[in-house]
Amino acid sequence: MKFLSILSILTALAFSVTSFMNGSPEKTRQALSDSLEMDREKYISLLKERIKGNEKKPVDSVFQNLQVLSGFPAENLIFAMKAWSIGLGVSCSHCHNTIDFSLDEKNKKRIAREMVVMGNAINEKLSTMDGLSKRPVINCITCHRGELKPALRIK
Ligand code: HEC
Ligand code: HEC
Repeated sequence: MKFLSILSILTALAFSVTSFMNGSPEKTRQALSDSLEMDREKYISLLKERIKGNEKKPVDSVFQNLQVLSGFPAENLIFAMKAWSIGLGVSCSHCHNTIDFSLDEKNKKRIAREMVVMGNAINEKLSTMDGLSKRPVINCITCHRGELKPALRIK
């Protein structure tokens, strides 16, 4: 047992050294984003399976614990969750216990709810400003652009 774990540590080390030598940062980033996408797709297909037949019902009649999202068909929750994940550069588990998505045990889920409320307030303010386009709006991507921490300068 002990031998096995030492062996696996050595293998992991060797692997990380070789992947460090072979992989350009661009390749590493691509691999990371591919594996994030695979992970998201796994949960999204489970979710599609789960709401089969109820896609057009009101979202809050299909899911258990919605406090800020409402007023659209259940199937659109899938698009929202995908957009949030891509927008922040994470997979579902950043905010969720992926065994039961209705639980609130992760702090990030609470933060995301507060971000929705903040975004609504910004959009409301925008709608009162003179001289903007017909429908000035922001969303998660406006600030996050694929990262957890919004940038403060142009890269
Ligand atoms: C940035 C955080 C965040 C990410 C990432 C995220 N979610 Fe969510 N999710 C939330 C929040 C917040 C709610 C609750 C919204 C509300 O209160 O109206 C929610 C609600 C849900 C619900 C409804 C659960 C219920 O029954 O109440 C499901 C299902 C869900 N998400 C699936 C997913 C899947 C699948 C992914 C990955 C593709 C994902 N989420 C990624 C924050 C996130
Ligand atoms: C007006 C800009 C802005 C918008 C719009 C915005 N956020 Fe944020 N978000 C921030 C800032 C700033 C932070 C804090 C980053 C830090 O910790 O310094 C943050 C942090 C977060 C975090 C915690 C990140 C972490 O470290 O895990 C989550 C989750 C999050 N936002 C989700 C969302 C979601 C979901 C949306 C869209 C519904 C959204 N945000 C829209 C600016 C924004």
